Amino acid sequence: MSDTPVVDEALVALLRADLTAARFTVDGVAERLGPVASAALHREQPLPALLATEPSATSDADATDACGVLVRLFTLGRPVAASALAAALPTLGVEGAVALGLVRLGASRAGFAAGRPVTSDREVVATCDLRPYGDDAHDWWVASDLSELAVGGPLRPDHVLGIGGASTTLASWTVRRPAERALDLGTGCGVQALHLTGHARSIVATDISERALAYAAFNLALAASERSGAVPPVELLSGDLLDPVEGQSFSLVVSNPPFVITPRDEHLPLYEYRDGGRAGDTLVRSLVRQVGSVLEPGGVAQFLGNWEVPAGRTWREVWGEWLDEQARDGVALDAWVVQRESQDPAEYAELWARDGGAQPGSEPHSQLYAAWLRDFASRDVERVGFGVVTLQRPATDRPVWRSLDEANGPVAAPMGPTVDAGLRARTWLAEHSDDDLLDIAWSCAPDVTEERHGRPGAEDPAVILVRQGGGLGRVVRAGTLLAAYLGVADGDLTARAALDAIATLLDLDPAQVRAETVPQLRDLVADGLLV
Ligand SMILES: C[S@@+](CC[C@H](N)C(=O)[O-])C[C@H]1O[C@@H](n2cnc3c(N)ncnc32)[C@H](O)[C@@H]1O
Repeated sequence: MSDTPVVDEALVALLRADLTAARFTVDGVAERLGPVASAALHREQPLPALLATEPSATSDADATDACGVLVRLFTLGRPVAASALAAALPTLGVEGAVALGLVRLGASRAGFAAGRPVTSDREVVATCDLRPYGDDAHDWWVASDLSELAVGGPLRPDHVLGIGGASTTLASWTVRRPAERALDLGTGCGVQALHLTGHARSIVATDISERALAYAAFNLALAASERSGAVPPVELLSGDLLDPVEGQSFSLVVSNPPFVITPRDEHLPLYEYRDGGRAGDTLVRSLVRQVGSVLEPGGVAQFLGNWEVPAGRTWREVWGEWLDEQARDGVALDAWVVQRESQDPAEYAELWARDGGAQPGSEPHSQLYAAWLRDFASRDVERVGFGVVTLQRPATDRPVWRSLDEANGPVAAPMGPTVDAGLRARTWLAEHSDDDLLDIAWSCAPDVTEERHGRPGAEDPAVILVRQGGGLGRVVRAGTLLAAYLGVADGDLTARAALDAIATLLDLDPAQVRAETVPQLRDLVADGLLV
């Protein structure tokens, strides 16, 4: 018997209709649970949601609480009465849910309904997690293996992960231009492929795990709803990294790969969803090296990753080496890497030793923690970076550009429009000279503000900070020249005319003012502070 949901188009259509009618949607569940239980559930604390969905003493109340019954069964992993599920899924029925591989029948139980005779009702147990998910334009549902919360113990090595923080980060940062052909590498439950259905004409989704591909197939079948409209074709292929798509080309490649750095110790569990089975950060490094081979000219690849920074080196030096290697081995790519955070080896070990179910303080947890520390020490790793990588294959034979940035604070949500604009701006800068830049009448973007800080009573500010409200939330320290230029950058004067006027006013050499300011203007144009 299959241990993943089964695609039966007719039954899937009934399920979709029932889930919609039950208001088992992102908004419907949030309303049903209320803000406190919803927020607790996001923190992986199920208790408030369990209390909020407790079955009532009479089965009549359950019959009117379809959304609560579905949350309890599929999200919280609790058994529910077969009669309650039958009422929650009136067209599919319990038999249909069993046939789809979503639930199994559990033990009989005696139920007492006040004022009625004692009845007997079987319990139903979920065999997978099923939750609503969506974006501005779509209501979807995503089935995956039952979470650690519902299983109440360590996960199986071939666990198929549901939607997590990394999934939503990648979805947020993805450039949503119309794409002819898109690839989701390591699709898992298919969440990135679902997003791609909104803007790609055809999609290939790959995974090394057959169980993951089965879940993705089910979720994509469930996705065609009235609100979402017809779903473009998604081809599901099995295999390692880019092997299944060798020789093909795509306009967009997205991947939330198994990037977690894991000690290669035979006694440690190998979770397919987070561990590509390679030592250190070699999986992400090989993705960087190889992904250009499947990008069409102008094509973009976006993925998440971790990278090791050995003692005495910076993360930018590490990436410089990776990108040099990439350019040597294939078509050189533009590269925009945004490091979002970096951890020391112990912080990283604490995070991942806990994942999968080992409780901090327990012996298994201590062994895992020590294995991570030994592994990092063996390569003299001092920090581990995490971030979002965007690579672009130039459409012409111009030289490539590189942007290695840090953004540790809050960024725009979604980030895709910022990345899209940033790719276009960086490409424009690579194709245009300083003279071209000076001939443009730039405007300060509407989300840019200026802060002046000074000693109390001082006439002039000691520090001027230029702050970007959206995008990467950049904060730039501006000297007198840049601050003066930004003060007049309203789209009327070319940068050349404005800088020449400032030079005259301050009695400075115009050529020197231009030479000093142009690199700063390039930086601000790249990140959208000047438009
Ligand atoms: C972190 S999960 C990402 C799932 C989903 N795309 C998301 O964004 O949530 C990584 C996925 O990569 C798959 N995977 C692991 N090793 C792989 C490999 N060598 N080649 C392709 N996929 C792999 C895993 O089975 C898993 O489904």
